[in-house]
Amino acid sequence: MSNKNIHVIKHPLIQHKLTMLRDKQTSTRDFRSNLKELSILMAYEVMKDTQLENVDIHTPLMPMQSPVIAGKKICLVSILRAGNGMLDGMLDILPSARVGFIGLYRDPKTLKPVEYYYKMPQEMSERHVIVMDPMLATANSAIATIERIKKDKPLSIKFVCLLASAYGIEAFHKAHPDIEVFTPAIDPELNEHGYIIPGLGDAGDRIFGTM
Ligand code: PRP
Ligand code: URA
Repeated sequence: MSNKNIHVIKHPLIQHKLTMLRDKQTSTRDFRSNLKELSILMAYEVMKDTQLENVDIHTPLMPMQSPVIAGKKICLVSILRAGNGMLDGMLDILPSARVGFIGLYRDPKTLKPVEYYYKMPQEMSERHVIVMDPMLATANSAIATIERIKKDKPLSIKFVCLLASAYGIEAFHKAHPDIEVFTPAIDPELNEHGYIIPGLGDAGDRIFGTM
């Protein structure tokens, strides 16, 4: 799909680490460390067009104006539970970010998301939001999450994942054409259980060792 709001990030380091995540031989420990490193690299991409503002500082030699990220602290939102696997990496790059959580799980029969938790920082209407979840499969979870967050009226929302399906990208873009999506790859299929094919399996299970 060619669309200005869908960004497929082809950087070699990102592609290499994604292969490590896909490989079933990768241990839980290595899966976590690759996921963290991949999240750091994706954070650079997601932040690429962030607005800056000049502040007055003094170098050891003289005063100057120098740019910092404008506005209130960014809000990272993790979709529980697998989103938490990306959080450490994102916080390495954005250590002052505020963090919100939405608890959702996919009903295995209907594949519809069931919300069980929602907690965001104060002053959402003054913040830019980055939502993270490793997997965009049917996109039902991401679509519901964005719908919920939009009610808080943040300045902007971006969605970052580590693997998407072609179906999920299409469905997400149809529901939220205004939201930018960042992914390293778009896989061609979903199986009958809504898993991305070839994919990387169940992200939550691989992060937390609950297979
Ligand atoms: C996974 C994943 C996404 C969702 C993607 O979570 O982390 O949240 O599935 O699927 P979708 O695009 O079809 O909605 P899951 O429901 O397995 O919950 P978990 O993170 O608690 O394991
Ligand atoms: N959730 C996952 O963790 N993996 C998939 O392939 C689909 C949904």
